Amino acid sequence: MNKTVLITGASSGIGEATARYFLQRGWNVSATMRSRSKVGDWSQEKRAICPYLDVTKPETISAAIHETLEHFGQIDVLVNNAGYALMGPLEGVTADRLEHQFQTNVFGLVSTIQTVLPVLRQQGGGTIINVASIGGRLAFPLTSSYHATKWAVEGLSESLRYELRRFGIRVKIIEPGGVKTNFINHGTTWATHPDYTKMVDKVKQFSEKINDSLPAPQGVAKTIYRAATDKSGRLRYSPYGEAFLLLHAILPDKLWRYLIENMMLGKIK
Ligand SMILES: NC(=O)c1ccc[n+]([C@@H]2O[C@H](COP(=O)([O-])OP(=O)(O)OC[C@H]3O[C@@H](n4cnc5c(N)ncnc54)[C@H](OP(=O)(O)O)[C@@H]3O)[C@@H](O)[C@H]2O)c1
Repeated sequence: MNKTVLITGASSGIGEATARYFLQRGWNVSATMRSRSKVGDWSQEKRAICPYLDVTKPETISAAIHETLEHFGQIDVLVNNAGYALMGPLEGVTADRLEHQFQTNVFGLVSTIQTVLPVLRQQGGGTIINVASIGGRLAFPLTSSYHATKWAVEGLSESLRYELRRFGIRVKIIEPGGVKTNFINHGTTWATHPDYTKMVDKVKQFSEKINDSLPAPQGVAKTIYRAATDKSGRLRYSPYGEAFLLLHAILPDKLWRYLIENMMLGKIK
């Protein structure tokens, strides 16, 4: 029987590329989506369905898992990919916006895991793949809200690995570096504050400038596939992020901070 993967946030970017990669390799794919505008692109695919799933709405998570089981009979791999970035100075971040950032990137991922776990335990195993970021291991200016969520995903996933191993359930963390998707242009929202305008402009300019030179998401999709199928106990995979993580680990902290500040903020006060 073909294996089945359920992916959150499969309407664009890494989620869509991952859905297509698994499909090409003969898997059944539940490419769950909040936006319905892309569903038509999948209508010819016999081994794919596109259930509606908004990670901030628990009832849609249960319904999407139910639909996937009805259609394919099992779920072997869950890829928690849905997410966005709330950027901007912490002083300008409202409680509502911070809450929504956590509802999506952390609590939505937790609800999805909690809903799928009884299924995986009953099946006798499976794999949970959480898409974090290099931004879950290190931090850049004006990104505190997003980093807080991705650092949370890192800690949660590492802990979860211990408690699920005995059930034959593997946990994997994907930590991509910068990838060209809708993330910077559409998947990022900015909080503002009048006293941080120059800094915000500088970081916006920096991200817009690098966006075009970033690699396509297919490389991350391949890594997610590898994590799903490699049978190893490896926890972390960092497609396009390894060099950054290595530099962060080996450079003295002062030098690292100098390089990041210079690169992203320049000489502004
Ligand atoms: N691109 C990068 O440089 C990068 C680097 C490191 C980590 N990541 C992580 O990779 C993941 C995917 O991002 P991406 O780069 O592929 O960006 P993207 O193209 O903007 O895709 C994000 C996906 O998440 C979905 N999403 C957002 N909120 C959702 C919700 N409440 N419920 C369900 N789906 C929701 C979006 O759906 P809609 O179409 O409905 O908005 C979209 O399908 C994110 O977790 C991101 O943090 C990205």
